Amino acid sequence: MKIKKIIFATGNEGKMKEIRMILADTKIQVLSLKEAGVQADVEENGSTFEENAVIKARKFMELTKEAVLADDSGLEVDAMNKEPGIYSARYMGYDTSYKIKNQSIIDRLEGKTGDERSARFVCVIALALPDGTVITTRGTMEGQIGYEERGENGFGYDPIFYLPEYRCYSGELAPEEKNKISHRGKALRLMKEELKKYI
Ligand code: IMP
Repeated sequence: MKIKKIIFATGNEGKMKEIRMILADTKIQVLSLKEAGVQADVEENGSTFEENAVIKARKFMELTKEAVLADDSGLEVDAMNKEPGIYSARYMGYDTSYKIKNQSIIDRLEGKTGDERSARFVCVIALALPDGTVITTRGTMEGQIGYEERGENGFGYDPIFYLPEYRCYSGELAPEEKNKISHRGKALRLMKEELKKYI
């Protein structure tokens, strides 16, 4: 089958912008949920990033009968058993500020140095097609939990995510710089390669 139109199941404007930029040269029209006129609460009850992304993509594909992309992402801290992982948004409660969440992670790593502070951002993108086909791609960005918050850019855990290779925090990267190396940018570019098979 050919894909001319795709719905990206997110309410996040930043993510919409990013995917539109990445798919700009494919001629595939990318619609937000709002533009597609659909809305639904999806329970993310999977136990992996892959499962949660697929649950979301399938649900909206079934509702719209169109090709749908969905993502799931989070932060894995090795010294915390890969927590908060798929619970990143829910860690310490949805309504708890990231100032508090970030400080809690710094506190939990007290006494650890260098590689003992290793962490990564993970992003999985799922594509669900009306014929039942499901494809997932995964991107990661490796780094370490810093000792303090730094930077005004990004969101969530970006201010405590140190990138040794770039000698700066994720929260200090300009959006275009972050897209080039981020988990989401990588997963989206891998998905673009998959989508090319359907153009
Ligand atoms: P979701 O996939 O949009 O639900 O994101 C899950 C959660 O993971 C976010 O709410 C953040 O806490 C965290 N997260 C995912 N990607 C990033 C990132 O690029 N920077 C900072 N936090 C992130």
